Amino acid sequence: MSKIKKIISKKNKTKIVSLTAYSKNVASILDNYCDIILVGDSLGSVLYNYKSTREVTLSTMIEHSKSVRMGIKKSLMIVDMPHNTYRNPKEALKNAKQIMKKTKCDGVKLEGGKKIYAIIKTLVKNKIPVMGHLGLLPQSDRTYKFKGKKKPERDRIIQDSHLLEKAGVFSIVLECVETSLAKLVTQNLKVPTIGIGASKYCDGQILVIDDLIGLNPMNYKFVKKYANIKSEISKAVSNYSKEVRKIKFPNKKNSF
Ligand code: KIV
Repeated sequence: MSKIKKIISKKNKTKIVSLTAYSKNVASILDNYCDIILVGDSLGSVLYNYKSTREVTLSTMIEHSKSVRMGIKKSLMIVDMPHNTYRNPKEALKNAKQIMKKTKCDGVKLEGGKKIYAIIKTLVKNKIPVMGHLGLLPQSDRTYKFKGKKKPERDRIIQDSHLLEKAGVFSIVLECVETSLAKLVTQNLKVPTIGIGASKYCDGQILVIDDLIGLNPMNYKFVKKYANIKSEISKAVSNYSKEVRKIKFPNKKNSF
């Protein structure tokens, strides 16, 4: 069974575990526990302090993805197509092919619904696996508010989810979507939904790794911090600095 089919076959059987990674060493740890590793364009804010993911370029995504590829042995590796790299089917196909070729990833993720239906169809027709992304779309959203409060918005997300499935996506990320809507969308699709701030009813979950390990100082409602790596790094660096200043490091063991 192909890696993509394996992911789809998990629907209604077992939850899909996903995280983002931006580099080899982190990816190699996540690979032991994840079904999907996403090189998310969230790296724009997490690593580069950009105001939004709209500033992330294709070459930045490709370089980080090449690093992540080296850390993955078994998980499905998906790469975000950055803003302005899939404005029409021709542009999307050229850039998606470049991502697939240069990073050896297993597929790409695009944000949007009806607007990118033809684009997704073109990629899928050309054998490029596509993950969809609905709800809060960081590449175009200005409000960063959760989605699905009002009926027109709920109806649009439901319609978009069906369109994405029809276009051939193998899964859909639902970002910051109201619980009952995420449940409904998940129940009505054959492909799995992967939630971030979209309730336990999704077929799987994804988080940004820096959020989960407490490296990002920001606190988001949809994040649970499973570790405090920031304090672990602080402790280690503080001990190192003390030992260097007291000429305790390097000692004989660390010297030639
Ligand atoms: O860019 C990203 O990391 C994402 C996830 C939050 C789903 O799109």
